[in-house]
Amino acid sequence: MHDFHFIDGELYCETVKVREIASHDRTPFYLYSRKTISDHYRKLDNAFSPVPHLICYSLKANSNIAICRILAQMGAGADITSGGELYKAKMAGMPPEKIVYAGVGKTREEIKYAIENGILMFNVESVQELYAINETAAAFGKKASVAFRLNPEVEIDTHTYTKTGTSENKFGIAAEEMEELFMRRDEFSNIEMKGIHVHIGSQITDAQPYIKSVSKAADFAKTLKSRGINLEWLNIGGGMGIIYKDEKPSTAAEFAHAVLPLAEPTGLKLIIEPGRFIMGNAGILVTKVLYIKKSKSRRFVVVDAGMNDLIRPALYQAYHDIKPLTLPSKGRESEVVDVVGPICESGDFFAMDRDMPRVGQGDLLAVFSVGAYGFSMASNYNSRPRTAELLVEGASFRLIRERETYNDLVCGERHRFTKMCASGNDFIIIDNRSEIYPDGSVLASGLCKRCHSVGADGLLLLENGKSPGNLKMRIFNPDGSEAEMCGNGMRCIAAFAYKERISGREARFETLAGIISTEVTGDEVKIKMSDPSDIEISLKLSVDGKEYPASFINTGVPHTVIVVDKVDKIAVESSGRKIRCLERFQPEGTNVDFVEVVNEEEICLRTYERGVEAETLACGTGAAASAVICCLLGKVKAPVEVKTKGGSTLKVHFKKNGGIKDVYLQGDAVFVYDGTFDRIREGSK
Ligand code: LLP
Repeated sequence: MHDFHFIDGELYCETVKVREIASHDRTPFYLYSRKTISDHYRKLDNAFSPVPHLICYSLKANSNIAICRILAQMGAGADITSGGELYKAKMAGMPPEKIVYAGVGKTREEIKYAIENGILMFNVESVQELYAINETAAAFGKKASVAFRLNPEVEIDTHTYTKTGTSENKFGIAAEEMEELFMRRDEFSNIEMKGIHVHIGSQITDAQPYIKSVSKAADFAKTLKSRGINLEWLNIGGGMGIIYKDEKPSTAAEFAHAVLPLAEPTGLKLIIEPGRFIMGNAGILVTKVLYIKKSKSRRFVVVDAGMNDLIRPALYQAYHDIKPLTLPSKGRESEVVDVVGPICESGDFFAMDRDMPRVGQGDLLAVFSVGAYGFSMASNYNSRPRTAELLVEGASFRLIRERETYNDLVCGERHRFTKMCASGNDFIIIDNRSEIYPDGSVLASGLCKRCHSVGADGLLLLENGKSPGNLKMRIFNPDGSEAEMCGNGMRCIAAFAYKERISGREARFETLAGIISTEVTGDEVKIKMSDPSDIEISLKLSVDGKEYPASFINTGVPHTVIVVDKVDKIAVESSGRKIRCLERFQPEGTNVDFVEVVNEEEICLRTYERGVEAETLACGTGAAASAVICCLLGKVKAPVEVKTKGGSTLKVHFKKNGGIKDVYLQGDAVFVYDGTFDRIREGSK
């Protein structure tokens, strides 16, 4: 039945002592036996060898990729019930032409994904689903193959939650309705009706219900044939039961013996969809006794695994044998206990009133027959990371799924970012409305460093503003310093807020440089800058004994603008850095813009950015600063097109009557990718 056995009182999996594995890995963990898995597969394959057949392993029992790969290598296909299972089956190397897809709630996206991948067939569970598959296939100009899942009205003796074969259950289609669908086949021009599927439930130990369901399906196929409809496949589903306690399930040979005489005369190729039969007894859960606790009426063995790791006892009152990895010496008394987990629910148990050898604190226990519907039904309830999974192969063992970390628990909730760029500046944008990251400075220095992390010119945190309806942008430079404002960054964050439906097309952002209004128009964003201030025209700056005619302006951040003949000839980094460090600009420092006037409407710009401490491909506030200064110097008129080093063009609009007012910056904002990061490595400040 399986390859977990005791030798001299010690539990072995194949030829490996389980206690030894436990010394390598923290408990709890799932442990599977490769030999058990392949033996079970082979037994079924042999039993059905008299007829052409395909074993579609039911991934819902256990979808670990390493396990699916073992079965794929033996020739198995897959029975899937979600896009996620298709994804994993493919990853495990299960060929799409051996994949069947059942389930009453396939979404359009999932149907599309399955069609794109060319799966063998959909097991269709309703008329509406058939329409959805037909329409989706038509959109691709393809034909989708389907079988109809017959609801055979066969009652079985199993837990109510795992019965699927009567009209009380949501599964399958009634025979009359199914017949009608076959007759209307011409209406579904992108569907090929290729088979009948029947699956009546799970953990069925008796062959009788199969005899009923398979004969109904076979009769149905014969009727269709008499009407000129020739099918290719008869899928008799999964559900074969296993021994948990004292059940006496049919063996693979007995099962085949019962159904083959009914199926064979149809001349159809057979599909079987076993899950539990292959995996159920191929896995144990190893858990440690944390405490022994007594109440007035009961004795509790508290272990470190919980219902989040194995929910079957709680959900189905399922029985699982539990034994210590080292059996106590003979004569040691047994006692009646409840084996319970750490979860805050009274339903969190693995055994109730179980007569077991007496165990003590620190003992290791094996919960048996959990290879199917064990890990695959595990959750993070009570914020518990899911366990590791290990596989024994003869005398060796390996990790096939890492134990989850605390970081894994939160990575969907934080550690997400969007990479965007605008006019050659790139940014990491994080939605920080929950204020999970109080310190953008550590984040920025960790994430913005190129070649070491994501890499960006800046980190933008999107937060809620102080005034109702306002949003807020905080911008951090790669060195961790916080900047007041950035025009390109503002365009990105406005496009981001609109795309994520955090704002409408128009929004107002609070920044350290005041409130900025934004408007998304197609791929471009127009932002209203704060009115320029601190303007000083015609300064004389002296660097390395050279005089530079320059102007100063604050367009949210300080800028020094220098008009030059040929912007290409300028050593932006060295001259820019020296000007940025001049005594007169301290302590804030300044950005430095070198500008070439092309004509009255156009300038070319290269900027040294403070904080980045290098030349950047573009700078929004720099574009506004340069356009305004050039206008005040009488060289250009609004609106001004600003060509940046990054090759993009920004448009600066403003009014000049008295002072400079209503400055707008317009340009693109491009989404590059979404990502998550694992942990923050602090960069050097
Ligand atoms: N095919 C279909 C369409 C299914 O829905 C299932 C299981 C199978 C095949 C595989 O059935 P198996 O051979 O494993 O019995 N969580 C429950 C079992 C649910 C079974 C769901 N469908 C449990 O832990 O007992």
